[in-house]
Amino acid sequence: MDRNGFSYESFFQRKPVKYMKSPLNYVGGKYKLLPQLIPLFPHRIETFADLFVGGCNVAVNVPAKQYLCNDLNTPIIELFQVFQSTPISSILEHIDANIQHYHLTKQNEEGFLALRAYYNDTRHPLDFYTLTCYSFNYQFRFNAHMEYNNPFGRDRSHFSDRMRKNLIAFTTKLQTVNMEFTSKNFRDISLDRFTPADFLYCDPPYLIASGTYNDGMKGFTDWNKEHEIALYDYLDRADARGLRFALSNILSHKGKENELLQRWCRKYRAIDLCPKNAQTGYPINKQENREVLIVNYGVDNGNFITQPIF
Ligand SMILES: C[S@@+](CC[C@H](N)C(=O)[O-])C[C@H]1O[C@@H](n2cnc3c(N)ncnc32)[C@H](O)[C@@H]1O
Repeated sequence: MDRNGFSYESFFQRKPVKYMKSPLNYVGGKYKLLPQLIPLFPHRIETFADLFVGGCNVAVNVPAKQYLCNDLNTPIIELFQVFQSTPISSILEHIDANIQHYHLTKQNEEGFLALRAYYNDTRHPLDFYTLTCYSFNYQFRFNAHMEYNNPFGRDRSHFSDRMRKNLIAFTTKLQTVNMEFTSKNFRDISLDRFTPADFLYCDPPYLIASGTYNDGMKGFTDWNKEHEIALYDYLDRADARGLRFALSNILSHKGKENELLQRWCRKYRAIDLCPKNAQTGYPINKQENREVLIVNYGVDNGNFITQPIF
């Protein structure tokens, strides 16, 4: 039990809720963190706005009346829009036709490269999805000319039965909820559209540990201090309007500190997401990252009333 009367042991040993996983293997995806994250969100949400939706791991698992899912990465957003608007049988037929036509297997790099070249000419989102299924680490990357350039996932990557089931579950969900997808810079999403019944969730690239989602994509620059400060300003303005927000981030990473964030978050609540030893208060596993959720609302999860960590 810590000094706030919260037992980390019981919190982290609760029967696990089954969360839905994105069909995209997203760098920085929050799937594994969902059991810690989602109980900290408000219970009643009118519009859940996920401003850096990435693989959509979070939005697809949060109960809300409607959703706004945004990401600067246009091919991802276009893929989600196709998942939303295409009968599941047609999605699977398209992927299966690709597998047959290009003889895609875990060993056939030539077939993979042929589909990659075809996609780079024609840009159909379902060809993009098929490519990710046969790519190294199931990931995706684009070069400066917006060409898909992830290498082949030899001996490992293929469209497995598990992925098929997962894709069916995910697209079914997308087709049954009221979800809007947009591809904008977060700064261009006007705060005017939100009310205090809504909830803004931000999972931006981490300043001190950037992933490769934007790897040289045209129109993208790496996440930098200027973006970070613009996001703090955006969230301060949201707070001033009485809007609730939560920001995922890390305070430190492999010895590097995000001092900007450490200073900024003092005005809100930074909830430490690393499980701690109940007696000593030290993290149970030696963590390379100090992962936090910064919120501007009171989190009352059963007995769990959070306090600022500073
Ligand atoms: C850490 S990932 C989000 C992962 C997501 N929460 C998940 O669980 O799948 C960060 C995302 O921010 C997007 N991004 C980067 N800069 C952005 C910007 N200025 N506006 C909107 N999205 C941006 C990237 O394309 C990337 O998809």
